[in-house]
Amino acid sequence: MIRPWSTWPLRVRLVVTMTVLFAAVLGAVGVASTALLRENLMATLDGKVQDTIGRASAPMGQDHFMLAPGLDQDAVGAVFDQSGTVQQSGRSNFDTRTLTTAQINALAAVPDDGYYHDVNVPGLGTYRALAQHSPGGQSGGRVVVALPMARVSSTVQDLIATEAVLGVAGVILVGFVGFGLIRVSLRPLDRVAATAARISIVPLHEGEVGRLGRVPAQDTDTRTESGLVGASLNRMIDHVSAALEARHASETRVRQFVADASHELRTPLASIKGYAELTRRSRENVPPDAAYALRRVESEATRMTALVEDLLLLARLDAGRPLERDPVDLAPLVVDAVRDAHAAAPDHRWEVRLPDAAAEIVGDENRLRQVLVNLLANAGKHTPSGTTVTASLAVEDGCAVLGVADDGPGIPQELLPDVFERFARGDGSRSRKAGSTGLGLAIVAAVVASHGGQVWVTSEPGETVFCVRLPLAPLAAVAATT
Ligand SMILES: Nc1ncnc2c1ncn2[C@@H]1O[C@H](COP(=O)(O)OP(=O)(O)O)[C@@H](O)[C@H]1O
Ligand SMILES: [Mg+2]
Repeated sequence: MIRPWSTWPLRVRLVVTMTVLFAAVLGAVGVASTALLRENLMATLDGKVQDTIGRASAPMGQDHFMLAPGLDQDAVGAVFDQSGTVQQSGRSNFDTRTLTTAQINALAAVPDDGYYHDVNVPGLGTYRALAQHSPGGQSGGRVVVALPMARVSSTVQDLIATEAVLGVAGVILVGFVGFGLIRVSLRPLDRVAATAARISIVPLHEGEVGRLGRVPAQDTDTRTESGLVGASLNRMIDHVSAALEARHASETRVRQFVADASHELRTPLASIKGYAELTRRSRENVPPDAAYALRRVESEATRMTALVEDLLLLARLDAGRPLERDPVDLAPLVVDAVRDAHAAAPDHRWEVRLPDAAAEIVGDENRLRQVLVNLLANAGKHTPSGTTVTASLAVEDGCAVLGVADDGPGIPQELLPDVFERFARGDGSRSRKAGSTGLGLAIVAAVVASHGGQVWVTSEPGETVFCVRLPLAPLAAVAATT
């Protein structure tokens, strides 16, 4: 199955077109020159036949017409009388002065109409023959003389053979030289394409992109087609780089702003909380509604502090601040976190499953602790009392796998796909009361991603499982140093 012409590579199309055109021109020249040569040789031969018949029919007194002086070599001929009976026949360069009957019959068949005829003389080949009334002899007699065509056809055949050999060699040469030339002249285009391909795999969607690479200066000469493409690509790369830098700068400003704002809010929040608490405790006779209001101020300030802490942490994670890179044993982390969660939600049943092998990874201990705290707090906060929560740690395929499972009501189906997004939370009044920010799982996702791990969740009523997979120490160490 041949592909459509338009889908062939340009270099192949150019070479094929060039070679075919060259072959066609060569062929035309060859056919024309061969035809011309043949015509020319035939005219010469016809002239010789004419000359031979003239000499043969001139009565010079010799006893055989084929002995006439100046007769062409290789000529054959015959003389017939009025009734068509052969009188003399023979070949000029042979002593045999007679021809065979078949040969004579072939000559006898030539009409004396003044034209040259091609005759096949048996045993001798194709001849060019002319017949004429013999002026001497008996009136009405005929002389027929013929010369071999072999000279013409062998010359023509030689020419054709030479043309064919030279032509084929020429076509091959043109093909190869053309292919080489075209390849060399398309090479800059390949380099431009390579640059474009390199850029196409750079992740551009977020963060600082860095230098994108450009088409080398030698391929940006706008006087050539490929240079034009290269120069245009470079201009495009410059624009894209500038846009990406601008985006990165504005992202950085926003992050910095969020981080600064969160940081600045911590102190006043702490003051509000402290003063509210102080006022509530220090006065013996605070009216009940004022005491209630103060407690509300306190709890809202606590909620806001949590929100601000989460925002600050996320802003720092977004900024891609380098993490601590220390060896962290996950087992004690799990035990501690479960103990704290138990203290916060004593009505839940808390279980821990630890592996026999050590689960040591390289990372930032405080942030990893935050992951566990967030997952366990969710399992405590978003489930009713009496729920069993199982925290597990396992080691498999060079990874540590943390699991937090509970048999509570599960995450609402409509929330499940976005549960790791910022400010995604179940809208139950319960979670609002419990100081829900909707940032806990977003922080989990960000911390896990910054440790080169993955997190996923499955949830249905009665079984909710969060899984975190983190690469174990040796691998993480290698990844960190490279
Ligand atoms: N173990 C769980 N059981 C039921 N719902 C959960 C569980 N964990 C998380 N969720 C749901 O996912 C939402 C998002 O959790 P998270 O990002 O930690 O925010 P927050 O806990 O501050 O609400 C929660 O509001 C809750 O509706
Ligand atoms: Mg939470």
